[in-house]
Amino acid sequence: MVFYSESDYNDYMKKITTIAQELLLEVNHKDIAVDFTCGNGNDTFFLGHQFKEVYAFDIQQQAIDNTENMCRYLKNVYVHLDSHEHFDKYTRRLDAGIFNLGYLPQSDETVTTNADTVITTLNKVWERMNYEGRVVLVLYPGFETGKREAMKVEEYCSTLASKHFDVMKHQLINRKDAPYIICIDYHR
Ligand SMILES: C[S@@+](CC[C@H](N)C(=O)[O-])C[C@H]1O[C@@H](n2cnc3c(N)ncnc32)[C@H](O)[C@@H]1O
Repeated sequence: MVFYSESDYNDYMKKITTIAQELLLEVNHKDIAVDFTCGNGNDTFFLGHQFKEVYAFDIQQQAIDNTENMCRYLKNVYVHLDSHEHFDKYTRRLDAGIFNLGYLPQSDETVTTNADTVITTLNKVWERMNYEGRVVLVLYPGFETGKREAMKVEEYCSTLASKHFDVMKHQLINRKDAPYIICIDYHR
């Protein structure tokens, strides 16, 4: 990835994750949100202050511990050690969701999200979404697995029917392979 320094990269990451969160502030009905990849809990913590109920998922115990610790004072946050495609075992409906893809920072880089599982989960999301809603994905094409995942997820997003979906891509076009956002608005 072409960044000038680590602090440059960190500043950009802060910006992109903040933009992803802020996109969820525009959701009309802030009842139920899902953090599909809770990691260190930053997105869950943010959502916990904005939505009535938040469900958070991760497949690593370390991520669950971090998120529970981060959200220990929030009574509306439910954290589950489970893969995100099972989210419908825990909540029947949702208004908003976030997928921050890739691996847990400073952790095992081989434990990473998988495009097929993400797509399976997204297909369930549309069935469970209230009348309208928004899902935001942060994609990381800067490493090989992340690049393949981003291509596959983006390809899927580009096929969503325009009658029910508006799909927006937010990307730096002057930095190769920088993380970027896909924002999907759904309405029945
Ligand atoms: C980039 S991190 C998420 C960062 C997090 N949103 C935050 O605010 O700190 C990606 C996370 O996805 C998790 N993950 C990978 N596959 C998953 C799956 N199938 N279901 C749920 N989480 C998964 C990883 O364990 C990792 O913690």
